[in-house]
Amino acid sequence: MTHPATQTQDLTTPDPAARAAAEPAPAREWWRSAVIYQVYPRSFADGNGDGVGDLPGITARLAHLAELGADAVWLSPFYVSPHADAGYDVADYRDVDPLFGSLEDADAMVARAHELGIRVVVDLVPNHTSDEHPWFRAALAAGRGSVERERYLFREGRGETGELPPNDWRSVFGGDAWTRVPEPDGTPGQWYLHLFDTKQPDLDWTHPEVREEMESVLRFWLDRGVDGFRVDVAHGLVKAPGLPDWDHDQELLHGSNSGGERPPMWDQDGVHEIYRSWRKVLDSYPGDRMLVAEAWVAPAERLASYVRPDEMHQAFNFDFLQASWRAADLRAVIDRSIRELSAVGAPTTWVLSNHDVVRHASRLGLPVGARRPNGISAGDPQPDAELGLRRARAATLLMLALPGSAYLYQGEELGLPEHTTMPHDVRQDPTYHRTEGDEVGRDGCRVPVPWQHDAPAFGFSRTGESWLPQPSAYGHHAVDVQRGVPGSTYEMYRAALRLRRATALGTGELAWLDGAEQVLAFRNGAVLVVANLGPEPVSLPAGAEVLLVSGDLVAGSDGRPAVPTDVTAWVRA
Ligand code: GLC
Repeated sequence: MTHPATQTQDLTTPDPAARAAAEPAPAREWWRSAVIYQVYPRSFADGNGDGVGDLPGITARLAHLAELGADAVWLSPFYVSPHADAGYDVADYRDVDPLFGSLEDADAMVARAHELGIRVVVDLVPNHTSDEHPWFRAALAAGRGSVERERYLFREGRGETGELPPNDWRSVFGGDAWTRVPEPDGTPGQWYLHLFDTKQPDLDWTHPEVREEMESVLRFWLDRGVDGFRVDVAHGLVKAPGLPDWDHDQELLHGSNSGGERPPMWDQDGVHEIYRSWRKVLDSYPGDRMLVAEAWVAPAERLASYVRPDEMHQAFNFDFLQASWRAADLRAVIDRSIRELSAVGAPTTWVLSNHDVVRHASRLGLPVGARRPNGISAGDPQPDAELGLRRARAATLLMLALPGSAYLYQGEELGLPEHTTMPHDVRQDPTYHRTEGDEVGRDGCRVPVPWQHDAPAFGFSRTGESWLPQPSAYGHHAVDVQRGVPGSTYEMYRAALRLRRATALGTGELAWLDGAEQVLAFRNGAVLVVANLGPEPVSLPAGAEVLLVSGDLVAGSDGRPAVPTDVTAWVRA
């Protein structure tokens, strides 16, 4: 299809289906429209100079979130852990790892956040413990047939002497999902299931003690004042009875390439009963506490089942994150997400980056339609940094104008790119090691945040130590370089969050405007949003008041200001 040099949007044809989809939110349920900022504790701010971020460092920098305009913070795990998977291997759910501080530091962090009007969501890792958790240690020591082993998924091996794994499941991080243990007498013994690393044994959620323990952990943190939980691998807790073989590869992240068949380790119906029970725990507390599911399930109808009225409050919308930079794809995902989630009365969430995926400023600099990579290394085709940032900014303004709740990942407000040339010998993600380098893994999005362009470790730690190296380009993205600079990515995010709040975009309704094929144009309340993914500039309506743009506007052929390629504009018209 060819386009005239500029086009004027027809502003009078809202899509009634989309309009009907979003219901205004009761003000009480803050999470329905919240902007939630993800802090990755290792990499946000290092208070003691050891090169690893910590809770006192976070507390000292919480004002950054308030200044940005975030409603809540979600922190990745900071619990006692041997850090085989950066803290997603928990050895004690009720204490803080000394690397990050102490329980008192956690209390101080929650108190400071609340003082600033920021709610606190913590990570809960219920699918597996660390192999250094007392339960797993006891299970190893007690041997086969013991009650201690029943809390995990120990099975006899196949083959004549049990030398083969019990089934064919693969670990998400590569390699077998089973490891054989020596029995207490030293003979080769049973195998245990670990959908992730060897050091992350899966719990058996049919065991009542597992259920009781996790509810007690919920209460422990609710008692300390947290406002909610991000539930790790929420679709994995229950496995199909009998643990049947699964004749397919695991996809990069918890999906499957099964062509529609549901894998026996993911998204089993039994998980819902667990979340119904958790919901009751949360509802028994004062305040407005919430649960958000990390569930890599498709299609959106399946995801919606996690956020039915008596289950969780939110689920991450990974379909949006995974959509390609094409207007039709994005529109389809947006429509479907809103439709399916509003059918169960839940808000949609939107997310573009987190600690598990290539940062969107780099991802969107890769060829459109390319497979989403699990990390990028120096040997791979490099993203186009300028194009990536331009599209990332446009994608962000698109996302923040949508009704529902939005998740930001630390550093995206600086336009931070992925570290795409990290030396292999510093990599820590078990994925890299378990796949023998076939998958680069997630270290590139976990690099410490640059605060000051001319300070050691760009202000992350006073000593200059940094657990992962920061690329030199991070200096240009430092907070102090962008603060107060009109048009900087940081100031764009701030302005967007301010306007989003002032115009109630998060609780609004989306009404599409029909226009050119490669343009996303919609109204949300008083705001008209135009995201141009096509090659030709799109003229804004006559007299439009420009509220915010992700890139410079150009002059349209009709003389009116126009939105050029890969730019999103918020206007009042
Ligand atoms: C989730 C986390 C990821 C972790 C995995 C295993 O996907 O986001 O970082 O490696 O679960 O706990």
